[in-house]
Amino acid sequence: MKRIVILRLGHRPVRDKRITTHVGLTARAFGAEGMLLASDDSKLAENIMDVAKRWGGEFYVRNDVNWKAEIRKWKEEGGKVCHLSMYGVNLPDAASDIGQCEKLLIVVGAEKVPFEIYEMADWNVAVGNQPHSEVAAVAVTLDRIASTDPLKKEFAGGELKIIPAERGKKVVDNRLEGRD
Ligand SMILES: C[S@@+](CC[C@H](N)C(=O)[O-])C[C@H]1O[C@@H](n2cnc3c(N)ncnc32)[C@H](O)[C@@H]1O
Repeated sequence: MKRIVILRLGHRPVRDKRITTHVGLTARAFGAEGMLLASDDSKLAENIMDVAKRWGGEFYVRNDVNWKAEIRKWKEEGGKVCHLSMYGVNLPDAASDIGQCEKLLIVVGAEKVPFEIYEMADWNVAVGNQPHSEVAAVAVTLDRIASTDPLKKEFAGGELKIIPAERGKKVVDNRLEGRD
């Protein structure tokens, strides 16, 4: 898989603030290149970008996109669309097919998604056919369709970097490097 972008639908700025932030952070941590937010919440987009700047990598958030235009454009450019919904085909039965595409848009809802999404998607996929969370659905999907381990991804250029430790917290702060 070369490129993965998440499209977040139905975000309600007050009610979904935490969960949409977690969708973005999870998408970034598990290897997506960016998130398109189909609602206007520039503060939330800035917060995620701020985390991305501190912790490295190239992640982006585009605020207030028109979801239908984005899906159409993505497909015109040869991309595929995977809509995550508990009603879809179970992920283990679709993961190897999805993992072969070069350019994937993963759509997740908040409240009920427009029915058109089911028709526009190349795959309607369930991460187990039980209700749970868009954050879990994004994480498990990104893990199951990956050709290399997403947990081993390097995030270059960040201000902060964790040094894994058996106990305690070890964090390198690059902003302090070189100071007397
Ligand atoms: C918490 S659910 C709410 C769904 C909404 N009540 C409906 O009927 O469509 C929000 C989003 O989480 C994702 N989601 C929840 N459970 C899922 C599952 N088992 N598989 C895939 N996605 C899931 C879907 O993207 C869904 O749009």
